[in-house]
Amino acid sequence: MNIYITENIPSLNQKAANIIAAQIIMKPDSVLGLATGSTPIGTYELLVEYYNKGVLDFTKVTTINLDEYQGLAPDHDQSYRYFMDTHLFNQININKNSTFLPNGLAKDSNLECQRYNQIIQSLGGIDLQLLGIGENAHIGFNEPGTEFKPNPHLVTLTEKTRQANSRFFPSIDDVPTHAYTMGIKNILSAKKILLLASGTSKAKALYHSFLGPITPAVPASILQLHNNVTIIADSDALALFPQSMIC
Ligand code: GLP
Repeated sequence: MNIYITENIPSLNQKAANIIAAQIIMKPDSVLGLATGSTPIGTYELLVEYYNKGVLDFTKVTTINLDEYQGLAPDHDQSYRYFMDTHLFNQININKNSTFLPNGLAKDSNLECQRYNQIIQSLGGIDLQLLGIGENAHIGFNEPGTEFKPNPHLVTLTEKTRQANSRFFPSIDDVPTHAYTMGIKNILSAKKILLLASGTSKAKALYHSFLGPITPAVPASILQLHNNVTIIADSDALALFPQSMIC
């Protein structure tokens, strides 16, 4: 595990964008696992900038996202499809048919989870998985619980997560109660994992995830079992880490 500390959010995004850009340059047909949330927005902005400068070509890239709210249409401004289209896909030369997210409007949630799992399998492996982390250490929408769920599944969102994400909605009542997420096995199957975290609200989650026991009560703690995890975080998020662990 490599942990990089950055002075501020722009340098966090710079490092993250450079790692993703290097991945695309070295393997133009990369499969990227992508994340939403406020943390990676600046990373996506830089990838768009690199594309506009002619540094990056996305024509052969495939993307698969971690999660999607159940019940939101793709054109709902808080759906993760809308987020990805707006922040990245509509601004680069990626083939939209090569960008995958769960369908929030699927009628049968079991079938949707099976469909999403088949897509993940058919891609032949995720080269680089970008992750954020929830204040309760969720990854994707794998919420704290009593077991690690391996495959895509429908989640009942915790009140903490709905509260945290309510800042994007008119009110907490508008935040969906359920979401689809990739499972833990899907995430761990990625060849490389890049986790971004910023702010004091993530400090405990990071500490328990990487310095505590591996337990489904702390979903991100399972990342301790992956052999290629890079964490890029600011000093607030890393406040509880011993200096000796940080690059
Ligand atoms: C949501 C997403 C997660 C993301 C988390 C953190 O719950 N499902 O994938 O990591 O938010 O978001 P932020 O970066 O806004 O703190």
